[in-house]
Amino acid sequence: MLQIKNLHAGVEDKDILKGINLEVKPGEIHAIMGPNGSGKSTLSSVIAGNENFEVTQGSVSFEGEDILKLGPDERAHKGVFLSFQYPVEIPGVSVTNFIKTAINETRKAKGLKDMPASEMLKMIKEKADLLEIDRKFLSRSLNEGFSGGEKKRNEIFQMAMLEPKLAILDETDSGLDIDALKIVANGVNKLKSKDNAVILITHYQRLLDYIIPDFVHVIIDGKIVKSGTKELAHELEEKGYDWIKEELV
Ligand SMILES: Nc1ncnc2c1ncn2[C@@H]1O[C@H](COP(=O)(O)OP(=O)(O)OP(=O)(O)O)[C@@H](O)[C@H]1O
Ligand SMILES: [Mg+2]
Repeated sequence: MLQIKNLHAGVEDKDILKGINLEVKPGEIHAIMGPNGSGKSTLSSVIAGNENFEVTQGSVSFEGEDILKLGPDERAHKGVFLSFQYPVEIPGVSVTNFIKTAINETRKAKGLKDMPASEMLKMIKEKADLLEIDRKFLSRSLNEGFSGGEKKRNEIFQMAMLEPKLAILDETDSGLDIDALKIVANGVNKLKSKDNAVILITHYQRLLDYIIPDFVHVIIDGKIVKSGTKELAHELEEKGYDWIKEELV
């Protein structure tokens, strides 16, 4: 599904990603961990097509297609979803209206007509029930005054509605409390299928007790320096990152 080869990227003259290799297959959950500033968010931004970063080497292909030449909207239309670490507030636009627009944009890109209102309503109801989201929440203005947990809920709702093939969830700075952690975990587990994949960026081993990853990767200084299974996350929780850095010397 996603194939990243020797990816180098950065801003202006600063290299941030220094040769990332990663393959994600349908049905897999990959957790990405690593110290602050190691390049985790940059990697997700580059996959999603954030134009603030310049790719200097390497390739990223999604379902066999080179996506580096595509803009962020086109990537989203192909089924790449990135949760925002710092979501924007849009006063006057409800959670529901925002998602309606996003869905219809995607349909338009595929040459389809708008989703009929009745179908949209049915889907909203289904997904809100699945994720135990209160109807009142859906009519609130997007992210305006949302708590950390509510932002997560909205993010997971967006993911549920858009049904992406690849979801990248960057949890880094969200200050997830135990409830938000469960919202994310429940959402991911309920939406998981053999056809979609998830990249989960997290500092917390605890999240991985709820969402069992197939692979755990450690990024240090712009490179994946170690990959393993969920036991690796436990080891990191216990020992920190220094032992890996020492191994590298
Ligand atoms: N737009 C930018 N301009 C300059 N430097 C940047 C920019 N974006 C990221 N960086 C730098 O690139 C490095 C990697 O940042 P990134 O946000 O990818 O780290 P991270 O692994 O997500 O960290 P955290 O765990 O704190 O979220 C940092 O040193 C950061 O300061
Ligand atoms: Mg980050």
